[in-house]
Amino acid sequence: MLKGLIFDLDGVIADTARFHLQAWNQLAQRLDIVLPPEANDALRGRSRMDSLNLILSYDDKVDAFSDDEKAAFAQSKNDLYLQLIQTLTPADILPGIAQLLQDAKSLGLHMSIASASKNAPTILKHLQLDTAFDAIVDPAKLHRGKPDSEIFELAQQALNLQADEVISFEDASAGVQAIKAANQFAVGIGDAQVLKQADYIVASTAALNLAAIKKAFDALKC
Ligand code: G6P
Ligand code: MG
Repeated sequence: MLKGLIFDLDGVIADTARFHLQAWNQLAQRLDIVLPPEANDALRGRSRMDSLNLILSYDDKVDAFSDDEKAAFAQSKNDLYLQLIQTLTPADILPGIAQLLQDAKSLGLHMSIASASKNAPTILKHLQLDTAFDAIVDPAKLHRGKPDSEIFELAQQALNLQADEVISFEDASAGVQAIKAANQFAVGIGDAQVLKQADYIVASTAALNLAAIKKAFDALKC
């Protein structure tokens, strides 16, 4: 029986994935690295350091810098990202999400956040959603990032639920892989080809409808 919902944040609750990409692009330009089109999906859901290493790998530069230099690059990306998210308001909650959260509350579902971002609490405050969730996984406590299942398992445990009692929402292929590795029902938001491992796919958050998703979830559990 459905008892809880687990959400990724960037690209699911708010369109902050584009700010991450913008900030990484600026750093990449400084380092004379051109991001390939697949970076748009590949950078979603990855921790800050994994993202930096992925960007460096596009130009064979993973070993070209010291740990201190890499830490400084990550810091400057985050400084820019923090500037970009300063302007966020509740109007930046993605279409369909407020209704989904309201419908979930009416059904008495518990909800948690499974975001790799250390900035998640700040963003939720800007969106005035800081009291909307029962739990937020602390990414500092993770041993392995998405596509590993750990973050979704912790988000489920924080709700005291079993894997077959939750539905998890993601916009990244690494995130959908992580959900499936945790044996949870995955809703993918975005390109159906990229997110093909998901159990239920919508092109954008505007198309999210809890009743329809619950029907698909219930059908799979029968
Ligand atoms: C999310 C985003 C990634 C980002 C990661 C770490 O998973 O999708 O693009 O790299 O969080 O975010 P942070 O804000 O801690 O750098
Ligand atoms: Mg995301």
